[in-house]
Amino acid sequence: MPKPRSGLFVAFEGGEGAGKSTQVELLAKALAEQGFEVVTTFEPGDTEVGRQLRHILLGHQTGVIDPRTETLLYAADRAEHVAAVVRPALERGAVCITDRYIDSSIAYQGAGRVLEPDEIEHLSRWASGELWPDLTIVLDIDPAVGLTRFDTPADRLEAEPLAFHQRVREHFLSLATATPDRYLVVDATSSVDAVASAVFEAVHGRLS
Ligand code: TYD
Repeated sequence: MPKPRSGLFVAFEGGEGAGKSTQVELLAKALAEQGFEVVTTFEPGDTEVGRQLRHILLGHQTGVIDPRTETLLYAADRAEHVAAVVRPALERGAVCITDRYIDSSIAYQGAGRVLEPDEIEHLSRWASGELWPDLTIVLDIDPAVGLTRFDTPADRLEAEPLAFHQRVREHFLSLATATPDRYLVVDATSSVDAVASAVFEAVHGRLS
């Protein structure tokens, strides 16, 4: 049985080029200024095992992987991430902010690769020991815009066609619509400051 926890678990989700990493940093800084212990992390790859999985998952040297293999590798990264980083942070009472989590698997491997989203969710439930974010922030952007926002070469997932990224976007939005009390959807084309203050308000509201 998973141990009880006391911190706050926040996940950022969204398509490519939505500005998640900038917003994770801004939120962490704002919360730290208010005296909260904050742990920022990401998937895939924020553990020793995860770094090796990330190399396989995102590197072009890997070539085509069967979608089920890909799903299992993301789930393995998640199991290690939760055990080594997220759960310990929450047990200390910290605010743990992750750049991507379960919904990325449901959207990318489920809707993107066209596997059964419920099966992906089931696998991630098992991998994480049923650890769900208290709040998921979806930074929403049209992939036709998001995919132009890079200054680095596209990785294995980014290089998928526009229709793949459109399915991913729609699925993030449908997850948010299904349980609106656990989500905040923000228009990622708004200014950095406007996104940051909407995010801060939602997270701070859950801490007071
Ligand atoms: P990354 O370079 O970490 O950056 P960003 O989050 O800014 O896109 O890319 C991670 C990639 O992995 C991204 O294309 C989404 C994909 N991904 C999945 O397909 N499934 C998952 O479960 C996770 C966590 C990520």
